[in-house]
Amino acid sequence: MANIIGGVACSHIPSIGSAIAKGLQQDSYWKPFFDGFPPVQKWLSDSDADIAVVFYNDHGLNFFLDKMPTFAIGAAASYSNADEGWGIPVSDPFIGDQDLSWHIINSLIEDEFDIVSCQEMLVDHAFTIPLKLLWPGKCPVTVVPICINTVQFPLPSAKRVFALGQSVGRAIRGWDQKKNVVILGTGGLSHQLDGARAGFINKKFDLEFMQSLQHDPMWATKFSIEELVEQTGTQGVELLMWLAMRGALGDAKEFDIRKVHENYHIPISNTATGLMAFACR
Ligand code: DHB
Ligand code: FE
Repeated sequence: MANIIGGVACSHIPSIGSAIAKGLQQDSYWKPFFDGFPPVQKWLSDSDADIAVVFYNDHGLNFFLDKMPTFAIGAAASYSNADEGWGIPVSDPFIGDQDLSWHIINSLIEDEFDIVSCQEMLVDHAFTIPLKLLWPGKCPVTVVPICINTVQFPLPSAKRVFALGQSVGRAIRGWDQKKNVVILGTGGLSHQLDGARAGFINKKFDLEFMQSLQHDPMWATKFSIEELVEQTGTQGVELLMWLAMRGALGDAKEFDIRKVHENYHIPISNTATGLMAFACR
């Protein structure tokens, strides 16, 4: 059976891609952010992950406002990136794990999640940057992208997203392949890029949310989407990806979930950045 080695959540701001391309990791602005990653990179390479299942939100590269699935899962042999206009280098394509994609798709439908399956799918900065942060060299894992709409209302509730994560976790643990799988969630933390509250950051809520993932993982599911937007900003609601990741890891006691590392830094661009990694049995 497949094994979930753990999960990682981190922010996915496009300017991180430019900083990597320019080698600015030790620059004083960037250092407190990039310094969070080496312990997680080491843990990942020691854990021998074969596959990354990535919860992320597309920002208009693959899905635009005319067609917006709530939950979409890649089932492609490879996933290309494309120029989104941020001025960051287009990354090499990622190799898809089609067997695991179809296994998860079948399990989710059996579990009554009405998802969209995508045999062609472009992946944007929310996918490419976290993988580059976690594996700075050539990407050693195959991938399954799972896209959650946080761009166009109505958005799925935090409760529903956590349940999606739980269902994906059960599917992976029920897959009859001897593979090591890591779960990623990308986005957040608090940020608002436009409107009257542009630049809004809520450190108190972010830190409480990060703590909750360790000690009370369903804490955030008590908030409505409107309450989460109020607390974290219109784009801060990307923290739903962190919740999906944590849902997929399963019960803390049953799977011996332990925090490997965390980092929190304000700001990168207009955003509060967070990083959290959990190992499990
Ligand atoms: C920024 C943050 C995001 O999550 C994003 O998708 C794009 C830009 C930013 O802070 O610049
Ligand atoms: Fe984003």
